[in-house]
Amino acid sequence: MTRDLLLCFSDETDLGERISRASGFDLAKVERHQFPDGETKLRVPDAMPRRVVILRSLNQPNDKLIELLLAAKTARLLGAHHLTLVAPYLAYMRQDIAFQPGEAISQRIIGKFLAELFDTVITIDPHLHRVKTLQEAIPAAKAVVLSAAPLLADFVATHRTNPVLIGPDEESAPWIALAAARHGFEHAVCKKVRHGDHNVAVSLPPITVTGRPVVLLDDIASTGQTVAQTARLLLSAGAASVDVAVTHALFAGNAMQVLRDADIQNIWSTDCVYHSSNAVSVAPLISQTLAALATA
Ligand code: R5P
Repeated sequence: MTRDLLLCFSDETDLGERISRASGFDLAKVERHQFPDGETKLRVPDAMPRRVVILRSLNQPNDKLIELLLAAKTARLLGAHHLTLVAPYLAYMRQDIAFQPGEAISQRIIGKFLAELFDTVITIDPHLHRVKTLQEAIPAAKAVVLSAAPLLADFVATHRTNPVLIGPDEESAPWIALAAARHGFEHAVCKKVRHGDHNVAVSLPPITVTGRPVVLLDDIASTGQTVAQTARLLLSAGAASVDVAVTHALFAGNAMQVLRDADIQNIWSTDCVYHSSNAVSVAPLISQTLAALATA
């Protein structure tokens, strides 16, 4: 086997096939069996080329991290010299300090774990807050950050006329500016204070939204509280409509209902995380990056 190989898991076949078609990589599935006691058995093709890419989006991450450990170590044993992880969504990035004494700094621990398994890690819109580069969080030989903000902006441009782009917190400012600049959208960011998993307080920026379509752009929607609260405020301020565009559709628990209750019109997401709201594919972005890294 000489061509680069892309390994994907059965629940990510759609994205795997899209990337394989666009990149020309051979695609193989990792076979997975869960024993009655919860342990996992994995099987990969028994001949590996030198360069192997494993696709695994790390939403619902805990079992997947064990799967990555088994898959990466097995691929190396079977001949892979260069291993790349494509994790469109990268978990554990938000716990980047010990907020209380004794708390695990998960970002650092999981980052080191991945860096020991993989030569290159590629991800999209990771939630890096106090840590500025992915390399600091994941000290692999190469740590590559891509952004879906331009793709989401292009999608918004074809679905809304003269929208206002709003980011729900100050951290989103560079990302919102990048998306807005692409089409000259007016934009602003809110202030947000999080009081708990399901409890956030948002205040709107001083921007007029009366009669305008607003698109809320965020990296992640998890419980949906951030965008739901923001949408309510925007509609009370006179926005004609509020849509939501996110890179990572985590949508935990009853998040979709929370969004519907807030009168959000459309929910658009990328296929970084497989979800019924997926409207934009990141496959071309990932394929171009894999091609560029292969020739670098
Ligand atoms: C954090 O600041 C992120 O950018 C998102 O705003 C946050 O993770 C969304 O979480 P939730 O949907 O639970 O409010």
